Amino acid sequence: MEKFLNPNISKVGVGLRHTHFPYFESGPPPNVDFFEAITENFLNTRGRPFTIIEKIRSDYPLALHGVSLSLAGEEDPPLDYLKKVKSLIAILDPFLISDHLCWTGGSAHNLHNLLPIPFNLETKLLLLGRIKKVQDFYQREVLIENVSAYFTLNSSTEEESDFMNDLCKKSGCGILLDINNIFVNSVNQDFNPYEYLDRVNFSYVKQIHLAGHSDLGDYLFDTHSRAPSDKVWDLYRYALAKKNNIPTLIEWDEDIPPFQRLEEEVKKAKRNGF
Ligand SMILES: [Fe+2]
Repeated sequence: MEKFLNPNISKVGVGLRHTHFPYFESGPPPNVDFFEAITENFLNTRGRPFTIIEKIRSDYPLALHGVSLSLAGEEDPPLDYLKKVKSLIAILDPFLISDHLCWTGGSAHNLHNLLPIPFNLETKLLLLGRIKKVQDFYQREVLIENVSAYFTLNSSTEEESDFMNDLCKKSGCGILLDINNIFVNSVNQDFNPYEYLDRVNFSYVKQIHLAGHSDLGDYLFDTHSRAPSDKVWDLYRYALAKKNNIPTLIEWDEDIPPFQRLEEEVKKAKRNGF
């Protein structure tokens, strides 16, 4: 984290997306503190995308964010996948490594979706074993992100926030807290998002995601296609009152605007940080 010299300044980053590659080739954007790359986009390439990410890495701290670890899936994460990620970690030396609290199917049927899990003892034991294996293999801490879910599972016996706190306590992992996912779920599942945040042990929170959603009338859809809503910014401020200086990422994955538009959200996050 060599660029994070002043601990009193909020660190706000942006997702590395190929639509902005031409912009990066003109020089490092000045308002961004770090980038986050989707791990899987760089596992099987050494072409132009890799040249770009190495250039970005020479100018900024970098986080690696995976989407296919499938911690609660049918099988353990495949060894060849873990080896590729470990090689990428060795090359890029990310300051954070993360994936999701979810399953994505099995090796025969990868559903390419971040699917919710039941929060109960059986799932927790499965996850604890896998998280420990992954962290031992990488020799690094891994952050686990809460996902958006459009229903609750009857087999859950505890709150998601308590479940994540316990995972961290017993495995040494950390939390990547997606504030937009909490808000989307709170509307769709009818709970109080502030009470959710009150239950999170913020000593485990090492990164925050901020994204936009779409209001489809009957429910909110986690589209990442627009800026965070005012209610998500309100929750962000509430979270930072519990622990400041948490590296924060602006996520924008659909209808991606010019990079300068993302820089506006970066500046807004920095204003909200203090
Ligand atoms: Fe996220």
